[in-house]
Amino acid sequence: MIATSQPVRLGTAELLAIATRLAPSAQSWPGMQDPEIRSWHTVAATDRYQAFVIAWPVGGAIELHDHGDSAGAVVVAGGSLVETVVGHEEGGSLQMTSRKVTRGDHLVFGPGHVHDIVNHGPGPALSVHVYSPVLRSMTFFEPRDREMLVAVRTEEFSTPAADR
Ligand SMILES: [Fe+2]
Repeated sequence: MIATSQPVRLGTAELLAIATRLAPSAQSWPGMQDPEIRSWHTVAATDRYQAFVIAWPVGGAIELHDHGDSAGAVVVAGGSLVETVVGHEEGGSLQMTSRKVTRGDHLVFGPGHVHDIVNHGPGPALSVHVYSPVLRSMTFFEPRDREMLVAVRTEEFSTPAADR
């Protein structure tokens, strides 16, 4: 028998359970209360997943991106965030769909999910993000002519990623 080293991808229900379990302690991470810039701490890392607490000042944002081969779950632990997801309309045009998630709400997604997240206020926001397998790359995109997404850069992480 040949052993394989394929990374294990936990299901989104399991990722959500981990994020939900970590959310109550998110407020206690140093520097997470009143951030001046988007800031994060790694709060768990195993060979199967990693988790971050991210603090968002008002106006804090991350542009359109994917999560490489990872699936993810996000639980809002304070304040509120707006996620915008990119899909395609029937005619092929890009369709941007936004939703507001507030404390206690969550997002889950599989590989290939492209979104941006912003804190429109009125106060700081806090979120817990769990990814499986461990986040190895993120590609950032810009919409072009309302028809397509263009990859503008990819960040690769050889060690557990600082974010997202
Ligand atoms: Fe993301």
